[in-house]
Amino acid sequence: MNITNEERQTLINLANEARQHAYVPYSNYPVGASIRTKSGRIYTGVNIENAAYPHTMCAERVAIFKAVSEGETEFEVIAVVTNNGGSPCGGCRQVMSEFGLDTVVLIADGDENLQKELTVSELLPEAFTPAHLL
Ligand code: THU
Repeated sequence: MNITNEERQTLINLANEARQHAYVPYSNYPVGASIRTKSGRIYTGVNIENAAYPHTMCAERVAIFKAVSEGETEFEVIAVVTNNGGSPCGGCRQVMSEFGLDTVVLIADGDENLQKELTVSELLPEAFTPAHLL
């Protein structure tokens, strides 16, 4: 898939700006995500923590679920921004894999520098996908 540097920076910038709304009273580790659909729409998400810790939701999943809840299930690229260029957790990799192994994942830091670019299949080799249930 062809992504221009300008598109990369736009998605990273949106994900980073979204971080100001991260609800992170426990970890103080704000995460922002932005996802672009094949139809060209962009959804952002942030991590939302909870006093009952396991009910916390990651930024990537918030962005994906916002998109899916509006009928969008085909994704081209997702950007994830943390202070230190942290990598998506296993649960988020699994949720990404549900919607396509070729989606590009941009991992960036709080200075909006791209740290890594790879596909969902590279992030989650041997994924269990919808095809396994056919
Ligand atoms: N977090 C995310 O939002 N995405 C990830 O992929 C990794 C972890 C959040 C969850 C929690 O609010 C904080 O980062 C620390 O784990």
